[in-house]
Amino acid sequence: MKRKTLTQYLVEQQRASHALSAEVRLLIEIVSRACKTISHSVSKGALGGVLGSLESENVQGEVQKKLDVISNEVLLEANEWGGHLAAMASEEMETIHLIPNRYPKGEFLLLFDPLDGSSNIDVNVSIGTIFSVLRAPASASGREITEQDFLQPGSTQVVAGYAIYGPQTMLVLTIGQGVVGFTLDREMGSWILTHENMTIPADTKEFSINMSNMRHWAPPVRRYIDECLAGKTGVRGKDFNMRWIAAMVADVHRLITRGGIFMYPWDAREPGKPGKLRLMYEANPMSMLVEQAGGAATDGNQRILDIQPTSLHQRVGVVLGSKNEVELVTRYHHEA
Ligand code: AHG
Ligand code: MN
Ligand code: MN
Ligand code: MN
Repeated sequence: MKRKTLTQYLVEQQRASHALSAEVRLLIEIVSRACKTISHSVSKGALGGVLGSLESENVQGEVQKKLDVISNEVLLEANEWGGHLAAMASEEMETIHLIPNRYPKGEFLLLFDPLDGSSNIDVNVSIGTIFSVLRAPASASGREITEQDFLQPGSTQVVAGYAIYGPQTMLVLTIGQGVVGFTLDREMGSWILTHENMTIPADTKEFSINMSNMRHWAPPVRRYIDECLAGKTGVRGKDFNMRWIAAMVADVHRLITRGGIFMYPWDAREPGKPGKLRLMYEANPMSMLVEQAGGAATDGNQRILDIQPTSLHQRVGVVLGSKNEVELVTRYHHEA
């Protein structure tokens, strides 16, 4: 079998279309290299002394795991020097990270959730890294980047992707031309194209939600799940299966592979908060991937990629995956 590496894929994309510039190609190569490093640390586990928590809390009010901080540092260090970025933002940092003056600056902004699914780390269950690339606004040229420059709707993303550290380490990517998946060949140290043109079937019999929050859900969410649970003899006329891995990367990877609907909807636990997941580091990149794979993504009411962000760490309700199911949940919200 002739194997195609990530580098070959990117060079081909660069030649075939103008959708990919040399800068973006370099950027993807560097992010994916950082993910290899993170994958290596993850796989060492207790042997590498990377399990467990730190004393610190992040800006989200979460206790940081060692791997949250290690992964954040790996991504910062790897991406600083390339000359393709103007600044970075991360779930684990209060504010944006400017490129130090000793390095040249580029025109792109990189955003990441360095380690997604932190509660899975110590129990040896799949985790991942999520990233998103935006173009710095033209108005920012010649001045220092600010948080405001990051507040662009997800529809403007240039690249979105994730790495999943599971039984295999994979990189799943979109440059706006569909979704492709690479598997890490650990011996060779290279990403090999193994999943061309990943697509999400429009229908599914599998849903993904944390059922322990049921009593807090809004009525449209409750209605949808109740109908799924009613099975063959209910209005849906089919039996549904349920999966919840507690790492968005792993749950989304499953639905990009075989279909499904994933929900972390708004709920009444913390009335002021619009949801748990973060718009800029989780919902936007995953929504771009899901749409590029033929699925849909809303916050219950509107398309996630259309949301105009108002702050860097903004949270949002998330309903994404198989198109017909996402449309049904969204219709229930509109009817409520
Ligand atoms: P993170 O580890 O980056 O903070 O994100 C965890 C998120 C997401 O990956 C997952 O779907 C969700 O939190 C799980 O939340 P619950 O523990 O409430 O189920
Ligand atoms: Mn976290
Ligand atoms: Mn996360
Ligand atoms: Mn995280």
